[in-house]
Amino acid sequence: MGAVVDLRSDTITLPTAEMRAAMAAADVGDDVYGEDPTLNAFESEVAELLGHEAGLFCPTGSLTNLLGVWLLVRPGEEVLCESLAHIARAEMGAHGAVHGVTMRTWSGPRGQIDLAAIAALAAPDAGPFLVSTAAVAIENTHNFAGGTVQSIEAVRELAGFCRDVGLGLHMDGARLWNASVATGVPERAYAEVCDTVSVCFSKGLGAPVGSMLLSSAENIARARVQRKRLGGGWRQAGVLAAAARHALHHHRDRLAVDHDNARAFAEAVAAANPAAVDVAGVATNIVVVATGDRPAGQVVAEAASRGVAISGVGARSVRAVTHLGVTADECRRAGEIVGAILAGRPSR
Ligand SMILES: Cc1ncc(COP(=O)(O)O)c(C=O)c1O
Repeated sequence: MGAVVDLRSDTITLPTAEMRAAMAAADVGDDVYGEDPTLNAFESEVAELLGHEAGLFCPTGSLTNLLGVWLLVRPGEEVLCESLAHIARAEMGAHGAVHGVTMRTWSGPRGQIDLAAIAALAAPDAGPFLVSTAAVAIENTHNFAGGTVQSIEAVRELAGFCRDVGLGLHMDGARLWNASVATGVPERAYAEVCDTVSVCFSKGLGAPVGSMLLSSAENIARARVQRKRLGGGWRQAGVLAAAARHALHHHRDRLAVDHDNARAFAEAVAAANPAAVDVAGVATNIVVVATGDRPAGQVVAEAASRGVAISGVGARSVRAVTHLGVTADECRRAGEIVGAILAGRPSR
């Protein structure tokens, strides 16, 4: 087995020397007292960038999603989301377990917004027998659906619908940066039509830790209290904000390279096994590959034995995610190996 090409996630990236230098040089203070200058400046900078009044820096995207949905949905009410949404599948039931929020889902093609389906589910003020809908949550890009970008037209149309019927709109923008680089639509255009927005610096941007919740100043003040209540108040977190700031300033534009590398991976898989992947549908840095009649776990194990780390995301689907720690050649080679496994032949 050669060296491992690790395509399990874009969260595995390690801080660069320049990023570590930025962390070491950061001015810091106690953030529970609101006294970390690096963190305060970074929250203002990102809020401005995304067209919101205020931001709250948090350790994880799961926490910024938890707080964003909590701001919009009271206990016993529901949020609508896509069936493969991270908030539904991968946050350990936190929205229900911690905040008493229930969910119903629509299934969009490649995880996309389906306004007709959402409108059919939405039940604001449902009365005494049914759960009332309080908000809709969208994911941009959509992780488990294969890095899908939500079109700005669909987001605007949904935002208009939510406004008209009195629903909140949350966006899980863990990879909003990728959506923006892929489409040329500024992040702000997507973010400013949503009531609450979560973005991550620890995915493709390559920071070791850090996500931010954006909303009105009033909402962010409430979320700050709830974060502390959940044990998430932190102290000299400016060292982490400095890393996130460095990532945003220096690693955003290079996401286009990750998108090219994801396409190269997909093309190599498709060359051996065209039915396994929709190459034209690869829009950003995530590729979901159908494993046909092979259980995903078996394909993941065989790929690992041939030096390629990927993850299973369904019974018959695996996922590869490109990031700043892998080269174009490594991605192409990894695609050839996964393609050979699915075609049932040894790698050349
Ligand atoms: C779409 C999406 N939202 C939220 C998260 C949660 O981020 P974290 O791992 O920082 O909790 C992830 C993590 O991969 C994600 O892919």
